[in-house]
Amino acid sequence: MSDAVVAQKEPYEVELEPGTYWWCACGRSKSQPFCDGSHEGTGLSPVELKVSKTETFWLCGCKATKDQPHCDGAHNKL
Ligand code: FES
Ligand code: FES
Repeated sequence: MSDAVVAQKEPYEVELEPGTYWWCACGRSKSQPFCDGSHEGTGLSPVELKVSKTETFWLCGCKATKDQPHCDGAHNKL
Protein backbone atom coordinates (compact mmCIF):
# COMPACT_ATOMS: atom_id res chain seq x y z
CA MET A 1 0.00 0.00 0.00
CA SER A 2 1.31 3.47 -0.86
CA ASP A 3 1.49 6.26 1.69
CA ALA A 4 -0.84 9.20 1.51
CA VAL A 5 0.76 12.38 0.22
CA VAL A 6 0.23 15.85 1.65
CA ALA A 7 -2.19 17.82 -0.54
CA GLN A 8 -1.74 20.93 1.61
CA LYS A 9 -0.58 21.53 5.18
CA GLU A 10 -3.88 22.99 6.32
CA PRO A 11 -7.53 22.00 6.19
CA TYR A 12 -9.93 22.82 3.40
CA GLU A 13 -12.82 24.93 4.64
CA VAL A 14 -15.91 23.85 2.73
CA GLU A 15 -19.62 24.54 3.14
CA LEU A 16 -21.47 21.38 2.21
CA GLU A 17 -25.13 20.88 1.45
CA PRO A 18 -26.89 17.69 2.53
CA GLY A 19 -25.61 14.69 0.62
CA THR A 20 -22.86 12.11 0.51
CA TYR A 21 -19.29 13.14 -0.15
CA TRP A 22 -16.05 11.21 -0.56
CA TRP A 23 -12.99 12.72 1.07
CA CYS A 24 -9.66 12.03 -0.61
CA ALA A 25 -7.50 10.03 1.81
CA CYS A 26 -4.58 9.49 -0.56
CA GLY A 27 -3.77 13.15 -1.24
CA ARG A 28 -3.51 12.60 -5.00
CA SER A 29 -6.87 13.97 -6.13
CA LYS A 30 -6.87 17.07 -8.32
CA SER A 31 -10.28 17.97 -6.85
CA GLN A 32 -9.23 18.36 -3.19
CA PRO A 33 -10.53 17.71 -0.67
CA PHE A 34 -12.66 15.20 -2.58
CA CYS A 35 -11.76 11.96 -4.33
CA ASP A 36 -11.39 12.04 -8.11
CA GLY A 37 -10.36 8.40 -8.51
CA SER A 38 -6.61 9.11 -8.48
CA HIS A 39 -6.13 6.68 -5.57
CA GLU A 40 -6.37 3.79 -8.02
CA GLY A 41 -3.42 1.47 -7.52
CA THR A 42 -2.38 2.98 -4.17
CA GLY A 43 -4.37 0.59 -1.98
CA LEU A 44 -5.94 3.63 -0.33
CA SER A 45 -9.65 4.42 -0.42
CA PRO A 46 -11.72 7.57 0.01
CA VAL A 47 -13.69 8.14 3.23
CA GLU A 48 -17.43 8.71 3.11
CA LEU A 49 -18.87 11.85 4.68
CA LYS A 50 -22.65 12.03 5.07
CA VAL A 51 -24.00 15.53 5.55
CA SER A 52 -27.54 15.97 6.86
CA LYS A 53 -27.76 19.78 7.02
CA THR A 54 -25.81 22.55 5.35
CA GLU A 55 -22.73 23.11 7.44
CA THR A 56 -19.13 24.27 7.25
CA PHE A 57 -16.44 21.61 7.58
CA TRP A 58 -12.67 21.74 7.89
CA LEU A 59 -11.54 18.71 5.95
CA CYS A 60 -7.99 17.49 6.38
CA GLY A 61 -5.63 18.51 3.59
CA CYS A 62 -2.47 16.94 4.99
CA LYS A 63 -4.06 13.47 5.17
CA ALA A 64 -2.38 12.77 8.53
CA THR A 65 -5.48 13.31 10.67
CA LYS A 66 -6.59 10.53 13.02
CA ASP A 67 -10.16 11.82 12.72
CA GLN A 68 -10.76 11.32 9.00
CA PRO A 69 -12.07 13.24 7.13
CA HIS A 70 -11.84 16.09 9.63
CA CYS A 71 -8.76 18.12 10.52
CA ASP A 72 -7.53 17.23 14.01
CA GLY A 73 -4.57 19.60 14.09
CA ALA A 74 -2.03 16.96 13.00
CA HIS A 75 -0.89 19.29 10.18
CA ASN A 76 0.79 21.45 12.84
CA LYS A 77 3.29 18.67 13.51
CA LEU A 78 4.34 18.08 9.88
FE1 FES B 1 -7.51 10.27 -3.12
FE2 FES B 1 -9.51 8.91 -4.20
S1 FES B 1 -8.24 10.35 -5.16
S2 FES B 1 -8.81 8.81 -2.18
FE1 FES C 1 -4.62 17.45 8.21
FE2 FES C 1 -5.23 19.48 9.77
S1 FES C 1 -5.04 19.49 7.65
S2 FES C 1 -4.84 17.48 10.35
